[in-house]
Amino acid sequence: MYLTKEQEAMLSGEKGETMAKCIQLTVKIGEIYDAKNLIPIKSAQIAGVSYYTVGDAIFSFFKLLSEGNVKVRVPSWLNPAGMDTEKWKEMCIDADFADKQFQIIQKYRSIGVETTLTCTPYLIGHKPSYGDHLAWSESSAVTMANSFFGARTNREGGPSSLAAAIVGYTANYGMHLTINRQPTILVNVKADITSLSDFSALGYWYGENYQSKIPYFTKISGLDVDHAKMLSSAMASSGSVPLFHIQGLTPEANNIDLAEVDEKVSFTNDDLKQIYEHFNQSIKNPELVAIGCPHASFDDIKTINKLLKNRNLLDEVEFWIFSSRKVANEEKAKSIVLNLESKGIRVYTDTCMVVSPAVRNRFNNILTNSAKAAFYLIKGEKTNVNFLSLEEIMELVTN
Ligand code: F3S
Repeated sequence: MYLTKEQEAMLSGEKGETMAKCIQLTVKIGEIYDAKNLIPIKSAQIAGVSYYTVGDAIFSFFKLLSEGNVKVRVPSWLNPAGMDTEKWKEMCIDADFADKQFQIIQKYRSIGVETTLTCTPYLIGHKPSYGDHLAWSESSAVTMANSFFGARTNREGGPSSLAAAIVGYTANYGMHLTINRQPTILVNVKADITSLSDFSALGYWYGENYQSKIPYFTKISGLDVDHAKMLSSAMASSGSVPLFHIQGLTPEANNIDLAEVDEKVSFTNDDLKQIYEHFNQSIKNPELVAIGCPHASFDDIKTINKLLKNRNLLDEVEFWIFSSRKVANEEKAKSIVLNLESKGIRVYTDTCMVVSPAVRNRFNNILTNSAKAAFYLIKGEKTNVNFLSLEEIMELVTN
């Protein structure tokens, strides 16, 4: 692999042992994937934050970092943690867990990572630009960055995105190369896709059937950033799709020669119905509504408030919205959040239903409008999760 003089110096330990270890990891990954060189990145988005998912192993990793006294060299942001950093007691998180979680967040902060604690950095002012090279690790954000924004990132692991943030480079392979961004399947979308959950169902269907192949979807009307985030997150969970194109909508769709795409499939109303039926074997007495996978935008929060109108939440149901602190604290969101909270709906930030123990440890019957959340909450657990549209959920849990 070609390395610049600066990169060689890092690798030889001239900039310290920790920097050398970080670039070794970046180079090693590049060698595995036959990368010709390392490229500078504009930003890093780092997963591996929730103490629930990373456990104590992360502290030995941090020890290595501390010894080197390193800092990140590019803007770097954190994925959600295992709890709301202010309302963790309300979420029934125990003090030991909270203590460990605060230590993890503090460690990232000390090396210069902005503790955004969200999987949707693009909703809080960190939109990547077309053609930017990034090292992002949250799978839904990776697919969003590649598809909706036309930026370029592989699906990094937590450690590899952190290493890239520290050295400022990533290996030039996979999604960084134009040749790998061509679609191999044309999906004729015949189904009536309207709600956020429909987009999530489409993504789930695609990922489950075609794994990591890049799709080109025929025109889907009305796709905005919230629809795209549902589509991205679902296809990156049932499969590992890093990029999609949509006719007339996504930034690279116009450059594609469809004559080169051999496989053609259709997504019909029957397929859409089957995805909902796959999750909704039986709707038992719901205990929790979990919305905000990926993290809710201001528009998502506003829609819930609108659907609630003069209705009230059933006493026996908890309703939790997960969002980023920045979105929930925005001036325009404050009165809406207050209104929702006055009706018993809780808005939690910094965390989510999947990476916090608060959901799985307490609730068995959950409703969500996210196929990704349903997929992870149901996995290997006794939890009964129903995947419905927001409108259907509101009908079920309010009077
Ligand atoms: Fe985000 Fe958690 Fe879903 S990190 S994409 S809300 S599983």
